[in-house]
Amino acid sequence: MSKRVINIAAVPGDGIGPEVIDAGMEVLNAVAKRDGGFVIKSERFDWGSERYLKKGDFMPENGLETLKAFDSILFGSAGDPRVPDHITLWGLRLKICQTLDQYANVRPARLLPGIEGPLKGVTSKELDWVIVRENSEGEYAGVGGRVHQSLAEEVGMDVAVFTRTGVERIQRFALELARSRPRKKLTLVTKSNAQRHGMVFWDSVFEQIKGDYPDVETDKMLVDAMTTRMVLKPETIDTVVATNLHADVLSDLAAALTGSLGIAPTGNLRPEKDAPSMFEPIHGSAFDIMGKGIANPLGTFWSAAMLLEHEGELDAAKRLMKAIERVTGEGKHLPRDLGGTATSREVTDAVLEAIQQSNE
Ligand code: IPM
Ligand code: MG
Repeated sequence: MSKRVINIAAVPGDGIGPEVIDAGMEVLNAVAKRDGGFVIKSERFDWGSERYLKKGDFMPENGLETLKAFDSILFGSAGDPRVPDHITLWGLRLKICQTLDQYANVRPARLLPGIEGPLKGVTSKELDWVIVRENSEGEYAGVGGRVHQSLAEEVGMDVAVFTRTGVERIQRFALELARSRPRKKLTLVTKSNAQRHGMVFWDSVFEQIKGDYPDVETDKMLVDAMTTRMVLKPETIDTVVATNLHADVLSDLAAALTGSLGIAPTGNLRPEKDAPSMFEPIHGSAFDIMGKGIANPLGTFWSAAMLLEHEGELDAAKRLMKAIERVTGEGKHLPRDLGGTATSREVTDAVLEAIQQSNE
């Protein structure tokens, strides 16, 4: 019988992207081999700021069409000090997310074994969250403009766009995700005291649909108060849903509270699976450590585990996650951002070995 093939487009992007994506592909191939039920086929696309500086675009004109032929995308990072950030973002990452309508951005935040976060006495029992970020509109809709440029009356405007389709689908996605987790809790985060149109709309859509999920316990928080709750009462939080910008900010805080931005993973999901989803570490391009071989690949490995889960390879996803946890738990091969001295190669080898040794 021929084995199932998972076709992955690897887009390393800028900075440390290529280092962590190479490591991620190595680990994915190893876990496929160990699992035996499927194989990984991949193609690498050198899209990003280097290409933009040479050719004027981040990806070829048919780049999005090319991506559609793949099952999933493993993305490194986008950002280069020589190119303004908003140009990079809109030229590559947002272009992929928005055109392929990967509307559900899922950001797990959990304290891994052996890792001490900045919160005293807090373990993975208290800090085990998933932040669901609306990923197609809101404050990132790109609507707005500049007028009277460089005159005294200059104006800059960004308009947040919330559609019923966009709000309802992300809230339903989060309610379903919460339902699949042991605690079945979802916190809706908005800012409806100040943003009296779009955010009140978010609240009212939630009121209309949450009754369809009677088994999910829900509550509601303003985004500023949520930051305090994350720090002071982490154990009261399980699943969170918020707008594109609010969840962007909350997920950085969540990553810091789990020990380092270097381990935080994310999936830009197209839940309908009629277009590929994209998985990436959230740490960014980290130009200061580029090429030194010390980048933390764990965020990419965790993202790769999310990719396998999305592809339905649940045993392989679990095996990879366990391997990551074994390495953090043993604490012998931790990268610098987690208090160790291991190089990317050493961390990768430790995870590869843990995959080999896993026996479930
Ligand atoms: C993230 C990042 C991006 C975002 C940046 C790089 C534009 O912060 O993935 O959280 O804001 O979406
Ligand atoms: Mg961010």
